[in-house]
Amino acid sequence: MSTPGIGVKDVFTANGSAPVEYRRIYVWELPVRAYHWINAIALVALCVTGYLIGAPIRLFNAPEAYEQYWFGWVRFIHFAAAYVYVFNFLARLYWGFVGNKYARWSAFFPLKKSQRQEIVDVIKADVLETKMHGPISTGHNALAGLIYFGTFLAFVFQTITGFALYSSMSSSWLPRMFTWIVPLMGGEFAVRFWHHLFLWFFVTFIIVHIYLAFYHDYIEGRGTVSSIIGGWKFDRENRGK
Ligand code: HEM
Ligand code: HEM
Repeated sequence: MSTPGIGVKDVFTANGSAPVEYRRIYVWELPVRAYHWINAIALVALCVTGYLIGAPIRLFNAPEAYEQYWFGWVRFIHFAAAYVYVFNFLARLYWGFVGNKYARWSAFFPLKKSQRQEIVDVIKADVLETKMHGPISTGHNALAGLIYFGTFLAFVFQTITGFALYSSMSSSWLPRMFTWIVPLMGGEFAVRFWHHLFLWFFVTFIIVHIYLAFYHDYIEGRGTVSSIIGGWKFDRENRGK
């Protein structure tokens, strides 16, 4: 029995088709996978509780306010998830400097001509459908990388506006560092408006992202979805890339 790794060949046959040789490549390291799932859980918690904070519902028919503390729990979960999400994100920022080539910042910026060409090819194949076969990258494709970078900027924006809102409710040093953001953005109402608007950015991202993960898994047949759990992807031996 062999250990999976670069250069180890597995042979697969599907429905009588000619055997194709694949090699397994370790793409997503443990810190990237841990970041991904902690971030996913925290973000879903933030979206759900944030939505409830913006549009509170009366859950139980309690005659006195003190008899129902559920809204307090909603806010507590929002703030607790916010801290998890922020420190997890800081860890990912660090890993962008020390991680493998698929995790590094160079995978997110299309600085090379080949990356810019890949963006054009992905748009032609996956969006406009004017090209039959798009490029198959081992890590993020160049367009996905750029979109993740945009998402990271949205993470930063949401963190700033979130802590700015929190600064008037907390005496802790971290939120207090963001007090000056409120007048800069035109007051609490404006900060709240932008913080709320970005909720819908994240909801849209999550829906499209999960759809695309399954789409690429289906189209490419290289274990895209399982790669973000176990770290391994499959690559055709004879593709020469
Ligand atoms: C990243 C994803 C996040 C999403 C999707 C999100 C979403 C929301 C939404 C929709 C609201 C309600 C706004 C309204 O009044 O209409 C809210 C409130 C709030 N959020 Fe976030 N938020 C996120 C991150 C954060 C972070 C990192 C913090 C930092 C502590 C934070 C702190 C707050 C505070 C203090 C409020 C106001 C709570 C209140 O007035 O009771 N949020 N959030
Ligand atoms: C709340 C939900 C989610 C959020 C916010 C999210 C966010 C992200 C982000 C930011 C990345 C880039 C990771 C990095 O390089 O650090 C990523 C990659 C990835 N995610 Fe998610 N994700 C979510 C749910 C899911 C789910 C449910 C799946 C699988 C069904 C999935 C599959 C993947 C895969 C396969 C990659 C790496 C492949 C690539 O697109 O380049 N994600 N995700």
